[in-house]
Amino acid sequence: MKTANQLPSADGLWTDLRLAPGAAPDVSLPEGAQAAIAVEQGRIAWIGDSSAVPERFANAPRHDGAGALVTPGLIDCHTHLVYGGQRANEFAMRLAGASYEEIAKAGGGIVSSVRATREADEDELFAQAAPRLEQLLADGVCAIEIKSGYGLSLEHERKQLRVARRLGEAHGVTVRTTFLGAHALPPEYAGRSGEYIDAVCREMMPALAAEGLIDAVDVFCERIAFSLEETERVFQAARALGLPVKLHAEQLSDMGGAALAARYGALSCDHIEHLSPEGIAAMREAGTVAVLLPGAYYTLRDTHLPPIEALRAAGVPMAVSTDHNPGTSPALSLLLMVNMACTLFRLTVPEALAGVTVHAAKALGLETTHGVLGVGRPADFVLWNVRETAELAYWFGHRPARIVVRQGRVSFP
Ligand code: NIG
Ligand code: FE
Repeated sequence: MKTANQLPSADGLWTDLRLAPGAAPDVSLPEGAQAAIAVEQGRIAWIGDSSAVPERFANAPRHDGAGALVTPGLIDCHTHLVYGGQRANEFAMRLAGASYEEIAKAGGGIVSSVRATREADEDELFAQAAPRLEQLLADGVCAIEIKSGYGLSLEHERKQLRVARRLGEAHGVTVRTTFLGAHALPPEYAGRSGEYIDAVCREMMPALAAEGLIDAVDVFCERIAFSLEETERVFQAARALGLPVKLHAEQLSDMGGAALAARYGALSCDHIEHLSPEGIAAMREAGTVAVLLPGAYYTLRDTHLPPIEALRAAGVPMAVSTDHNPGTSPALSLLLMVNMACTLFRLTVPEALAGVTVHAAKALGLETTHGVLGVGRPADFVLWNVRETAELAYWFGHRPARIVVRQGRVSFP
């Protein structure tokens, strides 16, 4: 794949486009009107009816959209993309009857990826993660969150986060880094969970924040990971450093994590299969996004559905993401997650598409720049080879992105 600076500029006038519903909330077009988008220096300079293009773009270079449907660039708002190795062996163990929790307790699970991640140097981790990122980009992803959490020491968490930043620069994609030092207890701290949380809060987080490597802080709050009290200590440390928080909440059990996260103004609570009515109310109050992760639900053959109807009724914004990780969601297509959010969780097509655009942007604190098309925003948009918007959710195992404009550069997936 070409690096970002080898790709052609998207500057100029994009014509003969069909705007997907909700793509550009500030633009009102007559029914069936063709749209045009003017890009200048990598940003959207104008967007509207193609029969009313302002004079100043009359001589701009033309890009023929050929009637394509256009959406904002997709956003994958929850991934663990940078890690060493893979865990197909655990997939086989689960087929033989072991559960995710049993494998974790027996020293597999997250900790086995920690071993492989610690063994790899920065260049090796980059080389392993880049092809995975390229798969996601081919689906029209223009912004992605990447968590640490497979290093579990200052040195190795730094390595993961540095690789995440490098991936963003090399591929010209917006990367938001999330520090997930409290993902699992590293083996050298066995039986000393409180001391490990001390190290996360006092040593790792401040150092990595000072290096500009942390955009948000996350915790895996679960009976096989960290308690509510430990989670709150991490949130306090994040608050002291001015960092926003998010949470792996109520995936396997109701720990009360979502309500706690909401008290800390969390950007998002993710997984939430076991979310309680109190958790929903707290998230609504705080404006916290519910991030749905159908890939993990599917892989674990979970049967406990997230409370979609109650979230919908409460007006909690719902995002959809791959949760790409080597254990519970080795997924490399965000559009497949859109399909699964509809099929497994019964989201409507507009809900699922909002889940990978406008609501995903909010889950990353990027709502003023990403998630919808508008003047002044970065030129991140996708031209799709489909007739109807619903096709974006309908096909699976298909990659209908024809042209992706990402950070003002054109690529053909
Ligand atoms: O989001 N829930 C915790 N973390 C990951 C799983 C990580 C792993 O198994 O390696 C998740 O599902
Ligand atoms: Fe996750």
